[in-house]
Amino acid sequence: MKGLKGKTALVTGATSGIGQAIAIRLAEEGCNVAINYRGDPEKAEDTLEQAMKRACDGIEACGVTAFPVQGDVSKESDIVAMVQAVVDKFGSVDILINNAGVQSEVPSHELEADEVDRVLGINLRGSFLCARETIKHLLTQQRSGVIINVSSVHERIPRPRYVTYSMSKFGMQGMTQTLALEYADRGIRVNAIAPGATITPINDAWTEDPEKQAEVESHIPMGRAGTSEEMASAVVFLASDDASYVTGQTLFIDGGLTLYADFQEPWSA
Ligand code: NAI
Repeated sequence: MKGLKGKTALVTGATSGIGQAIAIRLAEEGCNVAINYRGDPEKAEDTLEQAMKRACDGIEACGVTAFPVQGDVSKESDIVAMVQAVVDKFGSVDILINNAGVQSEVPSHELEADEVDRVLGINLRGSFLCARETIKHLLTQQRSGVIINVSSVHERIPRPRYVTYSMSKFGMQGMTQTLALEYADRGIRVNAIAPGATITPINDAWTEDPEKQAEVESHIPMGRAGTSEEMASAVVFLASDDASYVTGQTLFIDGGLTLYADFQEPWSA
């Protein structure tokens, strides 16, 4: 992809699932990658190893560096320190991938305020604060940059019993479009991807049970769940200069999930 070589990318929640695939793919495209992890440095080392192998296998002077950076995105002080650490290490943050996210299932009438704060604090407030810190650096350095938010089909499809998740992802759409408009004339593009059902640890409840997986996949027009690598492909496109005129958009990568699957066959002949 055009324009990625030598850029610096920060990926939040990069030690598993979609974030890990994005970090590895960005390294493969020639980016220096900061791999954010919340708690487990060993997982970050594992991601780092995989990224470096993919980026540098068989290349002597590969020029790509991967860097694990600790930070809990629900804590403002962690985010400020994390973005600063990446700038100190690489001189800039050109690409931010807001990927870290959680979900929880609770009937809405039983939801505690603390749980609302927890999910929104990671998924939405955390993403905003990462974007704010990155934008500050880009403006100070008068650099162009790219922010990509990992949203969800649930920025469009309501999700009963997961209202905090829906609130966070519907909110992410508003954040993507607003920041895109606010900084469009300063060379900062802001976009999102909206994955459908993807095989990652967040979905252990059904990916580890073939019957449940088949049930989930029966609702998807393409008949299968997506992979983290398929999500990463879209992210590198949006991060690259091949998408240089794209801003404020959400790219749905969902095997047709948002296409009103009930209309696949006529309702009456
Ligand atoms: P995952 O559970 O493997 O990844 C989530 C990552 O976020 C983990 O690495 C976790 O450690 C990190 N994280 C959680 N809280 C954090 C915090 N406070 N600070 C820093 N990192 C934190 O699951 P997956 O699927 O890879 O999720 C990545 C993103 O993709 C999430 O935003 C999720 O909402 C989104 N997504 C996933 C879909 C799926 O079907 N797997 C569908 C649509 C969206």
